[in-house]
Amino acid sequence: MPSALRFLVVLVIALGLLTLAAMGLVSRTTWGWYTKDLALRAQLAVNGSRRAITAHWEAGELAQLREVLADITRDERIMGTAACGSDGQLVVSTPDYPTSLSCGEVLSPLPLWTQVVAQPGGRVHLGAIPVAGARGALGSVVLVQDLAFLERRESQARGFLLFAFALLAASASVITIVAARFSWRGWSNELRKLLRGGSRRPELLPLMQDVRELVERLVVERESEGHGGWTPQRLKQTLSRYLHGERVVIVANREPYIHTKTEQGEIKVLHPASGLVTALEPVMRACGGTWIAHGSGSADREVADQHGRVRVPPGEGSYVVRRVWLTPEEEGGYYYGFSNEGLWPLCHVAHTRPTFRIDDWRHYREVNRRFSEAVVAEVDTPDPIVLIQDYHFALAPRLIRERLPKATLISFWHIPWPNAERFGMCPWRNELIEGMLGSSILGFHTQQHCNNFIDSVDRYIEARIDREERAVVHRHRSTQVRAYPISIDWPNRWAREAPSVAECRSTVWAELGLKPDALLGVGVDRLDYTKGVEERLLAVERLLERFPAFRGRFTFAQLAAPSRTAIERYHQLNESVEALAARINQRFGSGRYRPIALLRAHHEPPAVFKYYRAADLCYVSSLHDGMNLVSKEFVAARDDERGVLVLSSFTGAARELTEALIVNPYDLEEASGALAAGLSMSLEDQAHRLRAMRAYLSDFNVYRWAGRMLADAARLRARERLSGRLTTERLLGLEESA
Ligand code: G6P
Repeated sequence: MPSALRFLVVLVIALGLLTLAAMGLVSRTTWGWYTKDLALRAQLAVNGSRRAITAHWEAGELAQLREVLADITRDERIMGTAACGSDGQLVVSTPDYPTSLSCGEVLSPLPLWTQVVAQPGGRVHLGAIPVAGARGALGSVVLVQDLAFLERRESQARGFLLFAFALLAASASVITIVAARFSWRGWSNELRKLLRGGSRRPELLPLMQDVRELVERLVVERESEGHGGWTPQRLKQTLSRYLHGERVVIVANREPYIHTKTEQGEIKVLHPASGLVTALEPVMRACGGTWIAHGSGSADREVADQHGRVRVPPGEGSYVVRRVWLTPEEEGGYYYGFSNEGLWPLCHVAHTRPTFRIDDWRHYREVNRRFSEAVVAEVDTPDPIVLIQDYHFALAPRLIRERLPKATLISFWHIPWPNAERFGMCPWRNELIEGMLGSSILGFHTQQHCNNFIDSVDRYIEARIDREERAVVHRHRSTQVRAYPISIDWPNRWAREAPSVAECRSTVWAELGLKPDALLGVGVDRLDYTKGVEERLLAVERLLERFPAFRGRFTFAQLAAPSRTAIERYHQLNESVEALAARINQRFGSGRYRPIALLRAHHEPPAVFKYYRAADLCYVSSLHDGMNLVSKEFVAARDDERGVLVLSSFTGAARELTEALIVNPYDLEEASGALAAGLSMSLEDQAHRLRAMRAYLSDFNVYRWAGRMLADAARLRARERLSGRLTTERLLGLEESA
């Protein structure tokens, strides 16, 4: 039964019982009043004729006495009168006096005696008034009064009462229901407003807090039940549930699709080798929006409109890439110079000195400003959500904040953040930190990097560190500093589209000219000194030295994408890696056998996944790496649960992929031992480890990474909306009362 109906039934029953009780009370009280009235009337009537009655009675003039009594009965309510002698005998009575009422019963020694008795025609009131003459008591005059009028009045009163209570019950029900409706609607409207951050009633804030927490808990509980995995659809739902489907704008230097012109004049689309792109591209496919990036491809301008916009992925068009054009000087100063010769080596402990030049810094500042303006031009609300990516844009959060004070700015630093002492090497350390503190949320892969950032804030600028909230308060604004370990899409698109493992193996075996019983190791990287490619090759050399059984049988294929080739250090690396591979090949190669296959070229994802799937082992030997998504991709590629991951302990991924063989890449004994162990690992052990890592990645995929950041952003937006409104309200209140 609906609760409103239940309430009505209870109300009607309660009012019914109340009516009955009231009727009893009213009846008793009115009968009391009326019988008292009747007794007085009887006395008055007799007193008015007392002289005549006494005289005629004493004189024995019975006919005259009857006439006096008959005069009394002229009152229509007095039915009959009798004079009863002191001996209890009837002296005389009027014709209507009921014979059933004997004088013996009604004689009264008192000044007045009254009684109500039932008679065949209805109830009557008897009043006996003593009469005395000169010689003493004569007897009593008995008056019989009709009570029918009283019963009539009583039933009228009962009817009226019933009607009044019915009316009361009906109006009470209607009023209750209407009031409940209105107040419920009022409350729910108010709550709805509050939850959207639009209420003007501060007294409801604590309630809203509770409601929101409850709702969030329910959502989280529901989502963690059964179908708990994060998918593109769920990310999309999260965006529309928490952020009302707002468009996401990403700022990242590297674009997800590079249009280049081949020598034959055709336009080709390349997927760049970038962990950032690997992670964010599937997120953008799911969410839609705009990705603002440097237009670096030779055919980029040709395919974009006059604003530098092009819909991607080609043929699908789920989001927009807005290209920002840079001059060669700008690119040289901002990208090669300050970002990759300054910040990159500063943040990675990989023994390359950072170089800081004032001109590079000027370009960096200018390009950050240009990208910030592009953001302002792309958004269509005063409070957009902007995801600012990586070390290329440390100044952008503050610049965007100045133009869009209400924006939610989520910055993510994809590389490590060094300790405070090391960060202090940068001449513009304060400007960088202050720029980043324009963000609403600042994310790193690990808690260690968050701690390092907070230590740097503590050391170099004036700000309050709120350790409980894990936030920094600077210039009256708070920036939450949180760890969000990045990941890959799962189920992985490239793994799903790849040919069978057997097919991959046979193509790769053919490409590398391997013997049927060969063992294959694989490394996939941009040719960057942070990746430890030299240490990796040295570990292979040490393996062959220590374990001759692998000579002639084990080949390590290094897929090396040329990267940042305009920088001298990358040139050196290229040369040293080539020289090293040549030396090892010379030392252990024989006939057609080459232990190192150095494949220096850009490889598109299908080719990379073919190697992952063909290999017996993958070695990720970064000297320092924020996360490293190659390790996660290798796990994703191995749906056959075969293959071994050897992983550097200096990667963010080593904290998550704990079933890999974790090594120190500088320790060639340990690394070569792990390679040997990996190559000899039982199929059962391989499957066991891969199963565990695959299960982990299926939960902790990139949709979860983005979803958690967006959910935190949504909470922040709601809080900011609320506090903004409250502040205005309070100020208005103060002004009014002043
Ligand atoms: C790292 C950085 C990314 C960058 C990628 C490739 O993963 O964190 O921001 O895109 O390297 O480097 P590149 O300079 O080619 O974009």
